[in-house]
Amino acid sequence: MVNYKDLGLVNSKEIFAKAIDGGYAIPAFNFNNMEQMQAIIQACVEAKSPLILQVSSGARKYANQTLLRYMAQGAVEYAKELGYAIPVVLHLDHGDTFELCKSCIDYGFSSVMIDGSAHTYEDNVALTRQVVEYAHKYDVTVEGELGVLAGIEDDVVAAQHVYTRPEDVEDFVKKTGVDSLAISIGTSHGANKFKPEQCTRNSEGILVPPPLRFDILKEIEKRIPGFPIVLHGSSSVPQDLVKSINEHGGALKDAIGIPEDQLREAAKSAVCKINIDSDGRLAMTAAVREVLSAEPSVFDPRKYLGPARERLKQLYIHKCQNVLGSAGKA
Ligand code: G3H
Ligand code: 13P
Ligand code: ZN
Repeated sequence: MVNYKDLGLVNSKEIFAKAIDGGYAIPAFNFNNMEQMQAIIQACVEAKSPLILQVSSGARKYANQTLLRYMAQGAVEYAKELGYAIPVVLHLDHGDTFELCKSCIDYGFSSVMIDGSAHTYEDNVALTRQVVEYAHKYDVTVEGELGVLAGIEDDVVAAQHVYTRPEDVEDFVKKTGVDSLAISIGTSHGANKFKPEQCTRNSEGILVPPPLRFDILKEIEKRIPGFPIVLHGSSSVPQDLVKSINEHGGALKDAIGIPEDQLREAAKSAVCKINIDSDGRLAMTAAVREVLSAEPSVFDPRKYLGPARERLKQLYIHKCQNVLGSAGKA
């Protein structure tokens, strides 16, 4: 058993309270490997932003749980070495069982998500409560989820959004004791969040997706004032990255994300954690494709992963400064 406090990590309690008061959101960036972790730390140190380092169960399988945990411990030290000790949360993204959440807590995670959204309401409450009871013994914070995002969440595929029902949130929070709540208001996972036929074209011919359901968000805030809200599926799918990938041999079709101005607006509310993974994947892929097609003789991974890391860093600095508003808040 390792306690996250001994690793220099923090739970999400204090940073969420500050984010709600300050009208910004904390970035929750996923990582699976060293270059992603370096880019995230470099970006958040440079932007002086608090950070949630996010690990999915897929990432845990891909990279090995022990390695990831030591990398997170290393991340805290790396930030100090870069000259600024930002608060770092190590968070399990989309935990689906009590056993997985327990294992992460025992391994030094400071925060876990138990995603019971695929279950019935009653089963979601029971499972979330079970995780909260265990997590709170160790001062680990817990994120629950109500409502189902359209798209793919690990192995669960939902054809349509099931928006969070505002009338459920107070009961859910009270019965489970969760510290934050992920809601469904129109975001979804991956790079294909909307079909072109769902969008309208603006004066510059750019496809604009339907707006997020801010009415549902407001209703939720009314029922649980000041309670930390989380937005998953919040990549914006920058079109310059999609274009570059496709121009260099990629085949991404109809990739459309959440407009940045909508995320900025959400971050001013009780939304205090915004999850971004796909945009980072796009940035790295664009950079790798550009290098390999410009220099076909390259075979040293540092020659393409180095530029990919730099592109990722710039993207994350932009997110902190211009989208989430978390820059300068660490
Ligand atoms: O919500 C899902 C995250 O983007 C993690 O994706 O399960 O492929 O690691 P993953
Ligand atoms: P994106 O696929 O929009 O980046 O969402 C990531 C996410 O919600 C991770 O939990
Ligand atoms: Zn998610």
